[in-house]
Amino acid sequence: MDQETFNQGLMDFINKSPTAFHAVFNMEEMLKAAGFTGLNEADAWSLDEGEKYYVIRNGSSIIAFNTGKNGKHPAGFRMTGAHTDSPCLKIKPDPLLKNNGYIQLGVEVYGGALLNPWFDRDLSIAGRVSFLDEKNTIRSCLIDFKRPVAFISSLAIHFDREANKSRSINAQKDIPPIIMNLPEGEFSFSEILSAELAKQGLCAEGISIHDFELFLYDTQCSSLVGMKNEFIAGGRLDNLLSCYTGIQALIHSEKSNPCMMVCNDHEEVGSVSFTGAQGTFLRSVLQRLFREPENYYRELSRSLFISMDNAHGIHPNYADKYDINHGPVLNKGPVVKMNASQRYASDSETVAVIRSIASGLAIPLQTFVMRSDLACGSTIGPLTSAEVGMKTIDVGVPTFAMHSIREVAGSTDPFLLFSLICGFNSSSIII
Ligand code: CO
Repeated sequence: MDQETFNQGLMDFINKSPTAFHAVFNMEEMLKAAGFTGLNEADAWSLDEGEKYYVIRNGSSIIAFNTGKNGKHPAGFRMTGAHTDSPCLKIKPDPLLKNNGYIQLGVEVYGGALLNPWFDRDLSIAGRVSFLDEKNTIRSCLIDFKRPVAFISSLAIHFDREANKSRSINAQKDIPPIIMNLPEGEFSFSEILSAELAKQGLCAEGISIHDFELFLYDTQCSSLVGMKNEFIAGGRLDNLLSCYTGIQALIHSEKSNPCMMVCNDHEEVGSVSFTGAQGTFLRSVLQRLFREPENYYRELSRSLFISMDNAHGIHPNYADKYDINHGPVLNKGPVVKMNASQRYASDSETVAVIRSIASGLAIPLQTFVMRSDLACGSTIGPLTSAEVGMKTIDVGVPTFAMHSIREVAGSTDPFLLFSLICGFNSSSIII
């Protein structure tokens, strides 16, 4: 695999993954194509040595692993993780708003979204719909309108001359998107959904929709930008970039090494959920894998977890917002993230492991530390480390505009991160 092929695969993955549900569906497709066997949490598992498996929870979190060969590995399991969700706008259960000749949608803000960039974009709708089928069974399917069907227009500057200085955004009042002119007669949002499902051949016409989890997204595809194509711009780089990188690294890793990749939903809203990093998903898979408690604790004490999530690259227009010695530059290599308050889980021993792997592969590494007078973000790293009991390191590629509808990464860093994770998965360094 070369960098160009990797970046094209990454951009294709992002373009067809507007929601966490779609991201997991597409990761499952990649794993199936690479010979991984699907497991169901409700079934009895009998796992073979040297085999590859995956398990999905709620359609929005996925864990994939190689069991490894040749008995116990002194270095334990090589584990990596990322999150499948991204900040966005979620459509409310009863969304239709009729105002001044238009139909708008009521939305909630999901996660810590930067709201300004959502204005004046061509938006579409995607997510999961649950309905009663002809056989009286509840079924769910993924839907993606794909075409632009909604927009949030800015208020013209003529009504707010101070807009460039002081415009703020009220999440209840200012962001409901317009989807159409107000039509004659009554209709419901469910009718729009069932018509679209029938049009896309996903189910028969006239079924009754019982519920949905739908999100708005930007229809502009991800693309290379810059005079020399040095950058990748796209939605949901945080954290689909890391999901893609980790899954590809697992697929390309030696089958004899025991490795695992976990992708959790709900990181952007705190990770406490059925599918989140502070839930039981990973622990339950590990317990079924290692079976006896003695074995579980011994394996995990040897294992190492890399939490992959994007880092902040130093923005030249706002350089004073960064710590002078810890402002990573895009295209200068993956970033190790450190925080005294344990918002990142890296410590000197885990960082030493990753530095030694990186130097063996001639991969440059950078370090991010937040300014001491600003609060630091976090990742699934500290939560997973605490929940499962495993040494952890936080790593990611530097990006601009984290949590915007369109973020930017370097075009060489993702492939360097991929190479680093492949090196980690096959390394035998013992901590
Ligand atoms: Co993130």
